[in-house]
Amino acid sequence: MVRKFFVGGNWKMNGNKKSLSELACSINKAKINPDTEVVFGAPAVYIDCIRQTLDCKYGVAAQNCYKVATGAFTGEISPAMIKDCGATWVILGHSERRHVFGESDELIGQKVAHALSEGLGVIACVGEKLDEREAGTTDKVVFAQTKFIADNVKDWAKVVLAYEPVWAIGTGKTATPQQAQEVHEKLRKWLKDNVSEAVASSVRIIYGGSVTGATCKELAGMCDVDGFLVGGASLKPEFVDIINAKQ
Ligand code: 13P
Repeated sequence: MVRKFFVGGNWKMNGNKKSLSELACSINKAKINPDTEVVFGAPAVYIDCIRQTLDCKYGVAAQNCYKVATGAFTGEISPAMIKDCGATWVILGHSERRHVFGESDELIGQKVAHALSEGLGVIACVGEKLDEREAGTTDKVVFAQTKFIADNVKDWAKVVLAYEPVWAIGTGKTATPQQAQEVHEKLRKWLKDNVSEAVASSVRIIYGGSVTGATCKELAGMCDVDGFLVGGASLKPEFVDIINAKQ
């Protein structure tokens, strides 16, 4: 099963119209491996502008969305609005949504179901905290998070699963290739046992957490690492090297 390498840039709450447009223009000019799918997670207010600036071969993602289409939900955005601005993906269940904004597994599951029903692709994130890893509960934590996601997916064709250990995000402590491979392999086995063999072999499982130009190649060489979700380095020129990490 050939899984197309997938690299997402998660710009988080960084940049402004000028700097992000310049970044998009520089990506348009860069030499990018055509076999890699590339998606940019822009701040919601810039999705429209970034979509108009980026070459159409690149995807645009929202960094979050709500679980219904319209209504009295001050400050929220819906998949319908995201699509209206030209984006086709949404990042859901990111650790910052879980741990800074207190999003529950249940809410994340509902968002996944609604986003998929509206036709958006979903980059669904899971990952353990440092104390959970140190307590030896990594598998339990990521399997439980994945179950809430899986229970809300009918068609896995538009789902990318992102393993992002919380202790690696924004810390400069990239998981070792072995650590990433170990969890990715277990997640794929979980999908095989709990969803289907076909889904397990076709779903892209990408790694996120302090991926850099220096760490990406070895990680990309792991057989169950199908790409990356990149925060800090996606705002830098080295992001091109990360996109092109797969040999
Ligand atoms: P960093 O690459 O900055 O560690 O962020 C990872 C991340 O959270 C991507 O979603």
